[in-house]
Amino acid sequence: MSATLIDGKAFAEGLRGRVADAAKRFQADAGRAPGLVVVLVGEDPASSVYVRSKGKACREAGMESTEHRLPETASQEELIALVKSLNADDKVDGILVQLPLPSQIDDKAVIGTIDPAKDVDGFHVVNAGRLAVGEDALVPCTPLGCLMLLKDQLGDLTGMNAVVIGRSNIVGKPMAQLLLGESCTVTIAHSRTKDLPEVVRRADIVVAAVGRPEMVKGDWIKPGAVVIDVGINRVPAAEGKTRLVGDVAFDEAAAQASAITPVPGGVGPMTIAVLLRNTVVAARARLGLTPEVGL
Ligand code: GUN
Repeated sequence: MSATLIDGKAFAEGLRGRVADAAKRFQADAGRAPGLVVVLVGEDPASSVYVRSKGKACREAGMESTEHRLPETASQEELIALVKSLNADDKVDGILVQLPLPSQIDDKAVIGTIDPAKDVDGFHVVNAGRLAVGEDALVPCTPLGCLMLLKDQLGDLTGMNAVVIGRSNIVGKPMAQLLLGESCTVTIAHSRTKDLPEVVRRADIVVAAVGRPEMVKGDWIKPGAVVIDVGINRVPAAEGKTRLVGDVAFDEAAAQASAITPVPGGVGPMTIAVLLRNTVVAARARLGLTPEVGL
């Protein structure tokens, strides 16, 4: 392997340290800690694990963390009523409704109810719109984490060809907006893209966010490109075990790239660190305090 490994775990630890310092300053300015509320509907085991680790990370950063659990059978009206009560609670700076939601609940209706100033996931159309027009916005955590890793690795991204594979509202679209904001030439590729390998071969920066194990092959990667792998896919391994792989065939791609994120330990740890960052940013903005620099 010739590529540099991009250590998202180390970067995320550094960011969490800076967030903890910022949380102390907020406490001094506001007389209370920044507060995040996570709402979980149902008992999905993966979601429960995420929610628990978000709470733990919050407390470690000196922030207030509250968890609200509703049963799998909760109605959309119940969830929306809860979100409205959190919007009205002055001590709540960030609201995160864990997705996916049970089928009787419309994600869009719930996300649309969250006060955009408390929307630390950056999923509300107001935040998506602000990002698109280049105004201050709360930005989805995973793509913002990817951008932080890219800027740390490459410095100025101006003029680079970036190919984002995946067009979700959570990763692909905001990632493309962020790269455009850095003056990259951006292509959004997806499952209907014609000759995807050829499109990816033009990229100086590849961000893979499709959720298909090892789909991006080594001979799709231009020599020297930087590869960010957002995928977290569990696949069968030897002896009935499973292992985690990304959306990129790592060994092949690492032989071509100048730098690449591993799975696990690349993008994954960044998501929660950026969630904490967004919560402090939202807390300061809500109180009209000066923004933190270096977050
Ligand atoms: N489910 C998986 N990832 C996320 C995330 O980043 N935010 C929310 N709200 N739900 C998720």
